[in-house]
Amino acid sequence: MSEPWAKPPDALHRRGTTSLETPLESLDSYLTPADRFFVCNVTNTQVVDPASYQLELTGDALVNPVTLSLDDLVALPSHTVRAYLECAGNQRTLFGTLQDQHVERTEGGEDVPWVLGGVSMAEWSGPRLRDVLALAGLRDTARWIAPLGLDFDNPECPIEIPMPVEKALHEDTILALTMNGAPLPPDHGFPVRAIVPGWIGTYSVKWVGRITASSREIRNYRTDEYYVIDGVTVTRQNVKSSLALPFPATMGPGVKRIHGYARSPDQPIRNVEWSADGKTWHEADIISPNEPYGWVRFVFAWKAEPGEHRLMTRATDEAGETQPETCVFNPGTLLFNAIIPHPVTVA
Ligand code: MTE
Repeated sequence: MSEPWAKPPDALHRRGTTSLETPLESLDSYLTPADRFFVCNVTNTQVVDPASYQLELTGDALVNPVTLSLDDLVALPSHTVRAYLECAGNQRTLFGTLQDQHVERTEGGEDVPWVLGGVSMAEWSGPRLRDVLALAGLRDTARWIAPLGLDFDNPECPIEIPMPVEKALHEDTILALTMNGAPLPPDHGFPVRAIVPGWIGTYSVKWVGRITASSREIRNYRTDEYYVIDGVTVTRQNVKSSLALPFPATMGPGVKRIHGYARSPDQPIRNVEWSADGKTWHEADIISPNEPYGWVRFVFAWKAEPGEHRLMTRATDEAGETQPETCVFNPGTLLFNAIIPHPVTVA
C-alpha cells in the first residue's frame, strides 16, 4: 500500500502523516458513512487475511489460553452498540488557536493535529468481549484485560491498552466484526476490533491479534505517559459540541440552518444551546436519535449578517455534565472540550 490508508483520502483532511479527519460539514446523517469516518493510525492500515486470522487469548488469569479463528468469533452471539469514536486528542489544535497554549511532544510519536473531526459515529456489531474471554475460562483473579493490535511494529509502542476487568466485562464492550452493517473496512480494523463505548478512541483497538488477561495490573507507556492528565490515566471521554462548518467558516448573508454534533460519553444529551454573542443562549433542535453512547445531530436557524462572527454551542448531558468556557491545559493536549467560539465570516 503506498498510502497509510486503504480508503481514498480525498473526502477527508490529512492530519499528521497517517491520520485522516472527517470534515463534519460533509455529513448529513446520524451514522457516519465508512468513506467519511476519520482514521487514526499510528502506522499503516493493516491488511489481514480473514482465513488465516488468529486471536490469541493469553495471560495468567485464563484457565485455558486458546487461539481462536474468525469463525469462532462469528459463532458467538452478536451484540450491537451504536457509539461514537473520538480520539483523545480531537480538537487539540484549539488549545493553540483559542487559548494560545502550545506544546509539542519531544518523544513518543506525533500528536495528530486534529481540528474538529477526529470523531465519527457508527453502529458496531460482534461478540461481547466477556463471551470471548469465557471461551478461555476467565479466572476470578482477573484484574486487567489488554487487547493488542497487529500493527505492533509501530514506531511508538504497540497499541496495547489495558482496561480494568470491569470495563472489559461490561455488556457493551464488544469485539466488533461489522460497522454500519457491513464487514469492518480495513482502515477501521478488519476483521476484528474492540469497541469500548464512552472511552477515548485508543481503547477501541483495531486489528486485534492478542488479548492478555492478567491478575496483576498491566501498565505501559500509553497508560503511564501518553494518555495521562495530572498523573491519572485518561479513560472516559467528556461532553463536547461542535459545528459542522469549516473552521474558520465563510458564508453569504441570509437565514442559515446551522448544523452540528454534540456528544456525551455515556448519557443522552439533555440540550444543546447556541449563542452568537456569548451572552444570550437559545436552544437548538436535536434532529437525530439521542442514545447513551451516540452523538446527536442538532440544528438552529441563524440570521447571518455581513461581518465577523463567533458562533458558540454548549451541550449538557442528562447527568448535568456540560462544557466549560475554557479548557484547563494539559501537556498531552487531550480532551479539549471548551465551548468553541467558531469563527464565521459573512460576506
Ligand atoms: N488500533 C490499532 N491497532 N492501531 C491504531 O493506530 N488507533 C487508535 C484506535 N485503535 C489505533 C487503534 C486511536 S488513537 C483511535 S482514536 C481509534 O483507533 C480510531 O479509530 P478509527 O481509525 O477506526 O477511526
